[in-house]
Amino acid sequence: MKKLMRSLAGETLPVPPIWMMRQAGRYLPEYRATRAEAGDFLSLCYNSDLATEVTLQPIRRYGFDAAILFADILLVPQALGADLWFVTGEGPRLSTITDAEGMAKLKGPDDIHEHLAPIYQTVRNLASALPSETALIGFAGAPWTVATYMIAGRGTPDQAPAHALKDGNRPVFEALLDRITAATIEYLDMQVQAGAEVVKIFDSWAGSLKGDDFQRYALEPAKQIIAELKRRHPTLPIIAFPREAGQGYVGFHAATGADCVAVDDSVSAEWVAEHLQPHGCVQGNLKSSHMVTGGADLVSEVRRIRDALSKGPHIFNLGHGITPDADPENVALMIETLREHA
Ligand code: CP3
Repeated sequence: MKKLMRSLAGETLPVPPIWMMRQAGRYLPEYRATRAEAGDFLSLCYNSDLATEVTLQPIRRYGFDAAILFADILLVPQALGADLWFVTGEGPRLSTITDAEGMAKLKGPDDIHEHLAPIYQTVRNLASALPSETALIGFAGAPWTVATYMIAGRGTPDQAPAHALKDGNRPVFEALLDRITAATIEYLDMQVQAGAEVVKIFDSWAGSLKGDDFQRYALEPAKQIIAELKRRHPTLPIIAFPREAGQGYVGFHAATGADCVAVDDSVSAEWVAEHLQPHGCVQGNLKSSHMVTGGADLVSEVRRIRDALSKGPHIFNLGHGITPDADPENVALMIETLREHA
């Protein structure tokens, strides 16, 4: 079995498998070249041949244990009928949904597939192109995180517009979350049918949901998506990433049925070993900034995380995506250090 799949199945390996969030990204010159060929980021996502190429680039360069489909969490809102564009140097922009009228214009969960067909083609390409030891990860955004962008029309530091809709018009907010949940199930199901062996649910803004809101809008949708995907694909492993959940990480495996919980860098590996790893596989959690700064600190942090999580199933990763200013040499040093005794 592939190393990543063994860890997800609960095995403790002497050297954990490794991959990196945003491993196909702007820190790599070959990514920048292919993106220029595509024209822009969204054109790259929808060009199956070029999206396949950028997904494979970090596998060729570094021999990661997993490839993650090259796409974006905001393709689902676009497939549901929202306008989407990226402003260079700033980030995504979308048409906004703030009332029942906006909700009524959205497409149904089964109407997304024509728009997303190029993404399924990328998955099929990858399933046949990847080396036999490399696992293929599909993904989607979690309903809350996707909703924060659909409501605000952009990224927001505190998700205030989404909180305002939640507190001011709960029926519309919940209808939107339900629509995204249903569409996400269909989208991930199609990725699995196309050849994704694992799926990951990115809830980048889970940390801004507190108390009961965390249960209702982070935990509950993850549980629904996981239950339905496992009903359709009983052996499919699923990674959940409720970023910055803090204490909310505790019990997340059992409450949602996730096989693996990915953690950001706001919690220590020692804390993760004590509170999360006894309940299932964990993924993380090196600070992305080490990919910029490198050196002795990088080496000691890689060893510390590896050793702290060596008594249970662990997938080595960063706590969040690698940034464009990272040095590709530091990625090589991270992998070499992780595998030093292998
Ligand atoms: O991990 C991977 O490499 C897989 C592909 C992937 C991308 N985005 C490619 C991407 C994945 C899994 C995502 C997830 C994503 N997208 C999230 C959740 C995870 C997270 O990072 O918190 C979110 C919030 C988005 C929305 C998004 N996409 C934003 C806010 C931005 C702009 C910020 C930025 O980094 O420029 C993007 C663009 C984006 N998505 C890039 C990549 C490689 C950079 C695009 C470029 O080439 O200019």
